[in-house]
Amino acid sequence: MKLIRNPGFLFLFFYLLGFLGQSPVDAAVKKYQFDVQVKNVSRICNAKPIVTVNGMFPGPTVYAREGDRVIINVTNHVQYNMSIHWHGLKQYRNGWADGPAYITQCPIQTGQSYVYDFNVTGQRGTLWWHAHILWLRATVYGAIVILPQPGKPYPFPQPYQETNIILGEWWNKDIETAVNQANQLGAPPPMSDAHTINGKPGPLFPCSEKHTFVVEVEAGKTYLLRIINAALNDELFFGIAGHNMTVVEIDAVYTKPFTTKAILLGPGQTTNVLVKTDRSPNRYFMAASPFMDAPVSVDNKTVTAILQYKGVPNTVIPILPKLPLPNDTSFALDYNGKLKSLNTPNFPALVPLKVDRRLFYTIGLGINACPTCVNGTNLAASINNVTFIMPKIALLKAHYSNISGVFRTDFPDRPPKAFNYTGVPLTANLGTSTGTRLSRVKFNTTIELVLQDTNLLTVESHPFHLHGYNFFVVGTGVGNFDPKKDPAKFNLIDPPERNTVGVPTGGWAAIRFRADNPGVWFMHCHLEVHTMWGLKMAFVVENGKTPELSVLPPPKDYPSC
Ligand code: C2O
Repeated sequence: MKLIRNPGFLFLFFYLLGFLGQSPVDAAVKKYQFDVQVKNVSRICNAKPIVTVNGMFPGPTVYAREGDRVIINVTNHVQYNMSIHWHGLKQYRNGWADGPAYITQCPIQTGQSYVYDFNVTGQRGTLWWHAHILWLRATVYGAIVILPQPGKPYPFPQPYQETNIILGEWWNKDIETAVNQANQLGAPPPMSDAHTINGKPGPLFPCSEKHTFVVEVEAGKTYLLRIINAALNDELFFGIAGHNMTVVEIDAVYTKPFTTKAILLGPGQTTNVLVKTDRSPNRYFMAASPFMDAPVSVDNKTVTAILQYKGVPNTVIPILPKLPLPNDTSFALDYNGKLKSLNTPNFPALVPLKVDRRLFYTIGLGINACPTCVNGTNLAASINNVTFIMPKIALLKAHYSNISGVFRTDFPDRPPKAFNYTGVPLTANLGTSTGTRLSRVKFNTTIELVLQDTNLLTVESHPFHLHGYNFFVVGTGVGNFDPKKDPAKFNLIDPPERNTVGVPTGGWAAIRFRADNPGVWFMHCHLEVHTMWGLKMAFVVENGKTPELSVLPPPKDYPSC
């Protein structure tokens, strides 16, 4: 593997590090080889071949320190063309390494390799990586742990040890086949058969005694859990019997600490918590179960792992935590309301106070004609009534090389017509317009975007993820956003900063960010079923005035379609 692909790039990297007051000596290059390969895996009494990285499920953890350069060579040995996304990494000027297929790159074809080469700048905490094409992320995912720079402690008590907790979903059937069948029918794909913690469903499922994640702890210590929701379609509660958790970080941003019995994560979100092992030595279940407060069916089975105090025999039956009920809306609203940026001089919350451009996006489901579908129609989803159509070549490439005819830049700033978004369910005229339409943004524009859920077919909560940026969640609410009254209640001091926001069921979320990262950046609902139905769009952020504020040149091994 080539170490230095672009010397100018490396020079700039060291220059920037010097600029940020970090000596280049501290920065390291972390290299990984990811072999995408099929492996036979058995869970809940069912064996099947799954796509993995290096034969591991979940895949390997990527460790880096803030300021490091990370070089990951991905070699594709499976039948699917695929790509990998480094979820939450900002990829400054470097969308080439972002990973969403057909947005920033063409997929890596069978037998080919691609080197994801990126810097970890101005971020520390827990993120994750996953396949970003089809539903391959069902099994192709893993943690990213970004440690603070040497000599920079956590802004909370140093934990004795830490462990990753990755929540996922398992299907007994081959999920790509099942999704294809559902799409041919025009029906929703099947729910998962189990949730998993670090790939394991735990002993409440059949044949799963040996597929139980156990973390052994010593009494009287503090542990850091890095919790990731890698599920495809389920928002999840997580808790530990008998133990409180102190939330200290979300989406790789430190938060004001608060203590809670349960946390809530939408797909795509991460949460770091401290846990004190201050209870009587025993075995305690850690458990996750779904949050669903809309009339939509969901895999409601509880996955468990075990927090085991040293010296306690394995024969002791663990205690179960009491998690909120699946439809506990008030817990969800209350919990999300407690999340606040740490906002200290070292970790300031740089909330844009002046807004250059206001966007209002409605999130809706729909039904479109589908002559090839058995039902004659298929389900769709849209933003401002636009169902996004995937292009045939990568949007970032088309933008960088001025290739016309690939996308339009007329994505609407507001819905075609105003209506009572969250009134009674609307079940007629559910057609959407389709297109590869992007929103063009001038460099360094400050954007306020209100994401408004609608009751087209049904309301539902939507975890919205923006690539290339963190944003501030300055406000959320239930019902219709009121542009006259609601902005007065915005938190512009210490709002949570993250890369994925849960838009409340039948409600809205307002986010702000500064468009200072040039490139093409995907934004979508992180429920895989909704992304597939078209609940996605992208921003084209123009270059700044100088080359240093412009998209870098593509790497030599950039995959072509
Ligand atoms: Cu974690 Cu575009 O995704």
